[in-house]
Amino acid sequence: MNTRIAVVPGDGIGPEVIAVGMQVLDRLNEERRLGLEFTHFGWNADEYLRTGISMPPGAMDDIRNHYDAVYLGAFGDPRVPDMKHAADILLGMRFQLDLYVNYRPVKLLNAGLSPLKNKGPKDIDMVIFRENTEGAYVGMGGIFKKGTPDEIATQEDVSTRKGVERIIRHAFEYAKRTGRKSVCMSDKNNVMRFGGDLWVRTFEDVAREYPDIEHFHMFVDALTMQMVRAPEMFDVIVTNNMFGDIVTDLGAALQGGLGMAASGNINPGKVSLFEPIHGSAPKYTGKDVSNPIGAVLTAAMMLEYLGFDEAAAAVETAVVEAIAAGETTKDIGGSLGTKAAGQAILKRL
Ligand code: IPM
Ligand code: MN
Repeated sequence: MNTRIAVVPGDGIGPEVIAVGMQVLDRLNEERRLGLEFTHFGWNADEYLRTGISMPPGAMDDIRNHYDAVYLGAFGDPRVPDMKHAADILLGMRFQLDLYVNYRPVKLLNAGLSPLKNKGPKDIDMVIFRENTEGAYVGMGGIFKKGTPDEIATQEDVSTRKGVERIIRHAFEYAKRTGRKSVCMSDKNNVMRFGGDLWVRTFEDVAREYPDIEHFHMFVDALTMQMVRAPEMFDVIVTNNMFGDIVTDLGAALQGGLGMAASGNINPGKVSLFEPIHGSAPKYTGKDVSNPIGAVLTAAMMLEYLGFDEAAAAVETAVVEAIAAGETTKDIGGSLGTKAAGQAILKRL
């Protein structure tokens, strides 16, 4: 049976980098007969501005019932300042498809890309699991007396036992499966007492089921410092939605910049969404300057999720070789455009 993939290039530089990712996927699909079947969807800011619809009715169910994965570029357009379509589509999929695992590996692929003095590939190799369906992202709260001197805004940070437990368990399971030695849970329970209490208790409860894996806690402010000062101390990190959003941008910088970072929004065993971490970068749109590696490594991550481990590994090897040869875009020290940097990877596949 074929594996069905929905391709959503989105806004800004999304289409350019996804085009490169698609060349890689098409090549592998042909040569290795992976049986991948792609359907393109043009949901983006243009469509939204033209029709007022971010995602047509029934589309979410179609994705849920008829696809194995979604390969997404980026969302965000200055003409849609409230990011309505992005919220509907990206956050919509995260919530409605219950993609509770945000999987963001931080792996330095070449010593030359390290932004840290004296830290190399063996130091910068960790995986961050960000809870992806709760926390400050649930949109609970409101504004009272808006526009008056007395106005009040609240924004709730929601944690449920089930939600916290499943992401923490996923982090431990991953550590066990991949031979990682420790899991660090990060929060801010010295201030956020209630949510923190739930996270800490759940972390301790789950950790007891994995006696062979070390576990430790770190306040998120200290985490940002230690990720820079001593990244080698981390194997697997698990944290909530908002803290995870912040520390994964730091993580992307550790691997050479936003252009390098891949991510998966996963509901294990169900349709899951894969996107590079970088945004739509409107000012670089159509200029053939964006780094396609984030999108290519995202394609590899998707292949791995779908069970094509060897094909995924081949992609990573080709990327590592292209970087080693200096055949990359300018953001990581090369001199090529997006398309040529893509060719440099393709010819090594
Ligand atoms: C990310 C992005 C999104 C987030 C935005 C675009 C809503 O920053 O995927 O990290 O905050 O989750
Ligand atoms: Mn982010």
